[in-house]
Amino acid sequence: MCGIVGYIGKRKAYPILIKGLHRLEYRGYDSAGVALINGQGQLNVYKAKGKVAELESFCADKDTRGTIGIAHTRWATHGEPNTVNAHPHYSESERLAIIHNGIIENYAVLKAGLQQEGYTFRSDTDTEVLVQLIEYTQENRHVDLKTAVQLALQQVIGAYAIAILDKDHPDTLIAARKGSPLVVGIGEDEYFLASDATPIVEYTDQVIYIEDEEVVCLKVESQKSKVERTIDITTIGNVQKTPEIKRLELSLSQLEKGGYPHFMLKEIFEQPRTLTDSMRGRVNVRQDNIALSGFIDNKERFLNAKRIIITACGTSWHAGLIAMYAIEEFAQIPVEVEYSSEFRYRKPVINQDDVVIAISQSGETADTLAAIQLAKSKGAFIFSICNVVGASIPRVSDSGCYTHVGPEIGVASTKAFTAQVTALTMLALCIGREKGTMSEDKYLAVVRELGRIPDKISRVLEQDARIADFAKTFTYAQNFIYLGRGYNYPVAMEGALKLKEISYIHAEGYPAAEMKHGPIALISQEMPVVVVAPRCGTYEKVVSNIQEIKARKGRVIAVVTEGDELVSKIADYIIEVPETEECLTPLLTVIPLQLLAYHIAVVKGCDVDQPRNLAKSVTVE
Ligand code: G6P
Repeated sequence: MCGIVGYIGKRKAYPILIKGLHRLEYRGYDSAGVALINGQGQLNVYKAKGKVAELESFCADKDTRGTIGIAHTRWATHGEPNTVNAHPHYSESERLAIIHNGIIENYAVLKAGLQQEGYTFRSDTDTEVLVQLIEYTQENRHVDLKTAVQLALQQVIGAYAIAILDKDHPDTLIAARKGSPLVVGIGEDEYFLASDATPIVEYTDQVIYIEDEEVVCLKVESQKSKVERTIDITTIGNVQKTPEIKRLELSLSQLEKGGYPHFMLKEIFEQPRTLTDSMRGRVNVRQDNIALSGFIDNKERFLNAKRIIITACGTSWHAGLIAMYAIEEFAQIPVEVEYSSEFRYRKPVINQDDVVIAISQSGETADTLAAIQLAKSKGAFIFSICNVVGASIPRVSDSGCYTHVGPEIGVASTKAFTAQVTALTMLALCIGREKGTMSEDKYLAVVRELGRIPDKISRVLEQDARIADFAKTFTYAQNFIYLGRGYNYPVAMEGALKLKEISYIHAEGYPAAEMKHGPIALISQEMPVVVVAPRCGTYEKVVSNIQEIKARKGRVIAVVTEGDELVSKIADYIIEVPETEECLTPLLTVIPLQLLAYHIAVVKGCDVDQPRNLAKSVTVE
């Protein structure tokens, strides 16, 4: 979703802002823009539809001077993606410029009021209303910019992360947030501002995460040969806050492709290492115990839980479905898995002895954040599984577990998914052992096998070239069906989602046994069917499903256990994964599906890392 970058200091702002926008490209966007105060009292705004590269070409012959500036990548919500609607937006007098991530829900009412006061609007965006409201407030209440921002934001309903420039104050950058993320980087005589830490990491590891309803005022003033740098944080109600400086745990190399053609492929191949990182310090060296501090510190909440509700979106929701199987099997606590967007609005019954597990790679997904807030208000205990350290979701949770896979840049989630499944499986094992609902033998078998999973993933990855080869056969397809059962039913859905996201081929993930109740009507020789069929659970029944597909001339790609003989005889293509515990099969079976989607998308010439219309971090509803 929209990305924000800001800079104030001694260096030329433009190259820092552009580089920052490139770093934020992974979030998804359809236009970009930049605003700079040029040192001659001029506030220049440049915008372009499309990629950041197009903005750069547009700016090539423009005045890009200035040591203060803001820049933005826009993911359209109000108003189509075009140059006029791109940010930054000027105020009426063109004294102010604003960038915004979020949605102002009451913008229509505010806009009508401003129009009555004679304000005119150039764009269809809700953002322009905000900058006009700030200017109007400043002029009519005779207050400084910070106060005008505070007063204007008090009238706003919705979510925002904003940054504002005032051409009359080229030494001040003001920003604020509610619901959308914002982080300040502290350099030497300079400040950076961004939606996440990726544009900041190469300049400093000292950051401040801005909290909801906080306004931050960054000043860099030159006095004779001395540079004065100040940061002031208040709430929108003008309560003074003390900035809390944190150290960034992020390195620059994590943001680069490291020789791979795409971030997605790099991230798929990183999984043996990232899963080791997710287990580090949690699974002991003898591999006979798992210690999750977020569980240990809150054991009673889990042991007394009458129910666990899992809430998430997209790929994280699929990880939640797999966890339902593991938690019910090992801990025998009823589990419900909910799309956050549905849960937050459907007036769910939530009790004080419920445990809510929220899963989110980014830790910023607006619907998941709202679902947590609802559950919290009813007294439920919130445990979150997140990847981005310090993001909003872990900060509002009672406890949790980070997945520690490093930044995931490819929009289609891969390494975050396997890490989420690993973290949730570890949690299920912890609860099950503590409750005494699983045998010690089973506990030890699964923990030991978890330790072997990274090597087994490496073995699956060795088949990459073969998968790339047969992926070419399927680029003609308009539709795909993915089938699986039990633990591998969510894997089928995840495989279908990967294909949809990056290759734009329609795909459906279905429980294999349900095929007879509908999808079987679609099967013909044109229809590729991916069947996830490891040798465990209901394997024989899935083999029968494959027979049914072949009887109708469907083309079967099967993911099977090494040495499988039954399916190998009937499927058109097979991909083998090593044998493992049933609850861990998703960690292996999903890998070929990630690779298959990736290679089909590459052959089709799709933009794998930044698929159309998608955003990595969905910070609006
Ligand atoms: C977007 C991303 C998906 C992700 C989903 C949930 O749709 O494109 O990859 O699974 O959001 O995001 P979260 O950060 O909450 O896991």
